[in-house]
Amino acid sequence: MKTVLLTGATGFVGRRLLYSLINENVNIKLLVRNKNKLENHILERCQVYEGDTFNISVLQEALKDVDVAVYLIHMMGKDENYLEKEKQSAENFRVCCERNKVKQIIYLGGLGEFKDASTHLKSRFLTGKILSEKPENVSVAWFRAGVIIGSGSASFEIIRNLVEKIPIMITPKWVNTETSPIYIDDVIEYLKDAIMYEMPIHSMIDIGMSPMTFKEMLIQTAQVMGLKRIIIGVPVLSPRLSSYWLILFTPVNYELARELVLGLKTKTVKMNDNAEKYFPQIKITPFKEAIKKALEEIEKNQVLSRWCDSSKGLVCDVPKVPDISKAIFRDIYIKEIDSSYASKIFDVYKNLGGQKGWYALNFLWGIRGLIDKILGGYGKNRGRRQTKEIRVGDVIDFWKVIDIKEGKILLLEAQMKLPGKAWLEFSIDGELFTQTAYFYPKGLFGRIYWYCLLPFHKLIFKMMMNKIVEEAKRLKS
Ligand SMILES: NC(=O)c1ccc[n+]([C@@H]2O[C@H](COP(=O)([O-])OP(=O)(O)OC[C@H]3O[C@@H](n4cnc5c(N)ncnc54)[C@H](OP(=O)(O)O)[C@@H]3O)[C@@H](O)[C@H]2O)c1
Repeated sequence: MKTVLLTGATGFVGRRLLYSLINENVNIKLLVRNKNKLENHILERCQVYEGDTFNISVLQEALKDVDVAVYLIHMMGKDENYLEKEKQSAENFRVCCERNKVKQIIYLGGLGEFKDASTHLKSRFLTGKILSEKPENVSVAWFRAGVIIGSGSASFEIIRNLVEKIPIMITPKWVNTETSPIYIDDVIEYLKDAIMYEMPIHSMIDIGMSPMTFKEMLIQTAQVMGLKRIIIGVPVLSPRLSSYWLILFTPVNYELARELVLGLKTKTVKMNDNAEKYFPQIKITPFKEAIKKALEEIEKNQVLSRWCDSSKGLVCDVPKVPDISKAIFRDIYIKEIDSSYASKIFDVYKNLGGQKGWYALNFLWGIRGLIDKILGGYGKNRGRRQTKEIRVGDVIDFWKVIDIKEGKILLLEAQMKLPGKAWLEFSIDGELFTQTAYFYPKGLFGRIYWYCLLPFHKLIFKMMMNKIVEEAKRLKS
């Protein structure tokens, strides 16, 4: 039986690959930065190593007796030195694979040529190059994909939101750049088949559909959604302006919008036929069918992973020990409840946000989201992955789920632009339901911000608690 080490299992692609491997006849080892992001059934099925690619001793241990090591690590973020970190990470990974006599590395990077590529695409290319540097010691199946279409993918969310929200689109030049999109399930099939391949592959394998432009993707998506859309191209609109446009209408923040726009300035098309050579059994899903399937998954509440699950940065966004104890300000609201519906209260606050809203004064949450968007943040429209279930690492509007103690505690950390750090905690202890806002201010402005918000807290949180209790009673009866 093969032993596989999977990295990036808490990310968009990695988590889906992990789920698809669960029922296969393989030993699965995982390297994650925080194992709280994994569900219990995954912790029971896999051998989990907590650490990152800069922690050599953990990496060495994780790679022991491994046949195939899958590299799905990505640190794209605003940190200036992320490119250097990406290179170091790939180097550490390959060296540890060599030491452990791993036969095969599988890596998924991006399509496109190095020349004129954005920093993000350059990092994807350099990672592949570094991993592939010693073919005599370890073979590398270097997959390259362009825009991935699937529920939860950032590019798909951008396309879907633009088509849904703007009937007449003024589009910049880059919408005419060609890319070879691919449906996420096809990506997973390639990666899975490469893991199961009978002998090591050392090759660059471009995957995807025949090339199409971003404009064609918008038109075909509108057709699938049954919407009539008019697209007017203009030769201007700088990446900066386009990025502002994207953050207003789609769930991404400024940094991600800019990276994606810069990435679309250059062609990202398939440049070899190695996918057909090694994996002739895989049939590529046509674009419209991919869009249809992605939309169905959203409608049926079946989104497995999203672009905002991972940290998009050099450190994990879910700290192993939440630094909530650093909070200087706390605003605590306590309500006595009846134990007969206490468990229902947990169910209600687990479902907050997204389409359902926050039970009280939703327009104020909306205004806060808009302010965040204007400041370049994510705003409120990332919504939720699913309407009922949540796991640590999930996003709920402008919050990140940091901790869940089933039936008791839900801790959220704010991801909006703030002069400090903020958390919102819901807890049930016997017959007491408590809701606490925590804040760690940055400088004087942080303190002013906190005191300005206090009157709104009083209004919103009291109403919210009452509504949550009402809803819990309704669910009980
Ligand atoms: N998504 C797309 O549309 C797309 C398209 C084409 C190609 N690709 C390629 O597919 C690969 C995976 O992309 P993705 O979208 O799945 O990325 P992602 O969602 O951002 O996930 C990145 C993963 O890497 C982990 N990670 C980051 N730094 C780490 C480190 N130093 N050590 C260990 N783990 C680390 C993250 O963990 P945390 O949860 O702790 O942050 C997360 O699990 C990338 O190479 C990307 O270029 C993706």
